[in-house]
Amino acid sequence: MSSYPYQIKSLDDYNQQYKRSVEAPEEFWGEIASHFTWRKKWNKILNWDFRTPQIKWFEEGKLNITENCLDRHLADKANVPAIVWEPNNPEEHHRVLTYKDLYFKVCQFAHVLKNNGVEKGDRVCIYMGMIPELVIAVLACARIGAIHTVVFGGFSAKSISDRLHDTRAEFIITCDGAYRGAKEIPLKGVIDDALIGCDFVKKIIVCTRTHTPVSMIKGRDVWWEDEIKKVETQGNADFTAVETDAEDPLFILYTSGSTGKPKGVVHTCAGYMIWTNYTFVNVFQYQPGQMYFCTADIGWITGHSYIIYGPLSAGATSLMFEGIPTWPDAGRFWEIVEKYKVNILYTAPTAIRSLMAYGDMYIEGKDLSSLKVLGSVGEPINEEAWHWYNSKIGKGEAPIVDTWWQTETGGILISNLAGITPSKPSFATLPLPGVQPVLIDDKLNEAQGNDVKGNLCMKAPWPGMCRTIYGDHERFRTNYFSTYENLYFSGDGCLRDIDGDYRITGRVDDVLNVSGHRIGTAEIENAINMHEGVMESAVVGYPHDIKGQGIYAFVIYQGSHGNNEMTRKDINETVTKIIGAIAKPDKIQFVSNLPKTRSGKIMRRILRKIAENEINALGDTTTLLDPTVVDEIIKGKL
Ligand code: WT7
Repeated sequence: MSSYPYQIKSLDDYNQQYKRSVEAPEEFWGEIASHFTWRKKWNKILNWDFRTPQIKWFEEGKLNITENCLDRHLADKANVPAIVWEPNNPEEHHRVLTYKDLYFKVCQFAHVLKNNGVEKGDRVCIYMGMIPELVIAVLACARIGAIHTVVFGGFSAKSISDRLHDTRAEFIITCDGAYRGAKEIPLKGVIDDALIGCDFVKKIIVCTRTHTPVSMIKGRDVWWEDEIKKVETQGNADFTAVETDAEDPLFILYTSGSTGKPKGVVHTCAGYMIWTNYTFVNVFQYQPGQMYFCTADIGWITGHSYIIYGPLSAGATSLMFEGIPTWPDAGRFWEIVEKYKVNILYTAPTAIRSLMAYGDMYIEGKDLSSLKVLGSVGEPINEEAWHWYNSKIGKGEAPIVDTWWQTETGGILISNLAGITPSKPSFATLPLPGVQPVLIDDKLNEAQGNDVKGNLCMKAPWPGMCRTIYGDHERFRTNYFSTYENLYFSGDGCLRDIDGDYRITGRVDDVLNVSGHRIGTAEIENAINMHEGVMESAVVGYPHDIKGQGIYAFVIYQGSHGNNEMTRKDINETVTKIIGAIAKPDKIQFVSNLPKTRSGKIMRRILRKIAENEINALGDTTTLLDPTVVDEIIKGKL
């Protein structure tokens, strides 16, 4: 018997549950919600209006998400591993934190936060590597009702500073440094740079990991370990969770859109908890006792939802890995699978393609027989990668779940359910209960029936959807709810095949997906344009064998410094400083002009075709101010 009463058991069961979720959503979610720990029951299950937009679930319900992730498991799962941690360096010892250990450490650190002045509703910026203390920091914030905003360790000082200004976070939790493969990243040093001009930051808590020398400013910077000692001498063990409202913000996570400024996506406590738990239990068909390994970084939504909140609220064992798939060699994932007898592996197509390219010798001799379920997330998975994953890793016996979702959706919306609903290579297949996808065609009509395509929208809210953009509700409205009336617009193109299965075809806006990292072209252009001598630039994506999409920049440069090769390196350096290394263009082509309409608008469609090597499909170029620039750009193509 499974311990999740709402775990879907068969295809028939899926069909029934789906039907109920659409016909009687309040009844459906009310029943599921009753399996969680509440301080006070809700008054109203759902209250929504996509025009304002306003989305509220479980109104007036009171809870604390960490009581659901920790306290409630202490009775029967105290000694079950909650977090199993594999260090970057395979020679170093791994760590296991049972539910009891994690509970204790979260309580301790909640005291540390309190001692340092953090209160309910305060924003706390977390910039750490993938160590258990990151999970502890996140949950300790949630325990006192502070709003965490985790920033991925690959982002630059400037990116952190922008996020600090946007959230007005007065508290930062970081590490001296982080290990990633052969690299050591000086996290505290980056924070110090970010803080130039952020005088509102009151406290920085620094956790020791790499022993990199760091500057510690008196009165502002404190060591994690010293603060824990203080709590120990105070004799504080438990920390009673602070009661939050169902709709209080749980966290802010920044993601790229089609304009230059990243958006602070806000998720709230109850709906997000229920959604991540429900989708985790159903998509992966998790069974108590299984070892589950999600390879994402906690700096992205996948790590929030499927390393921390989904698995822990379900009392699962979540394996977290500090390092990268290719260090010390490309067999690292498979060594981890063998070492911990991983049952469920959730990773990204870009990782699969890169490991596939290293060759099968890294799999040979590794015992992967523990694997029962494989997952894919972040971008469309091409058929070749799907088949390799299926045959070489799953040995044809582990169902692959292709999970489509977004930072904004909080959790998985479209996916097959492992071993329960059928899979189909490169298709995310079917919506989860509560999810009502519609495809809108060029004529703004809802595409009816099967074998159709259009822009992917949702016509009703699900509990885990984001509620606003931090500090800019109007942007939330215009971004997601104004393109099509009364619909949430995802920004993705999609088709529904003759069987009714969904296949995501990629973004239809100016957002790129590079190695599973989402990045806006406008953001990259802004960074390039900050470089000395750059007059103007236009960035588009192009198909890339490993990364999915590569970044192609067309740049008008009139500086005199160095040759093209040096200038390219300099521009890359600027982009790294402004955003982070993940946004560095793969190709930079210097051009004397860009294809523009008479009104001065850059015709990206043409540049995209050139970058994609489809110069026979450029379309109409007669509306260009100067059509000859196109020939010049084609000649100079990299
Ligand atoms: C975008 C969201 C989902 C968490 C990680 C990325 C693309 C995501 C799939 C998939 C095809 C996918 C979409 C989406 N995407 N999963 N299974 N098949 N495309 O979250 O950074 O918010 O990016 O990733 O284009 O809009 P994100």
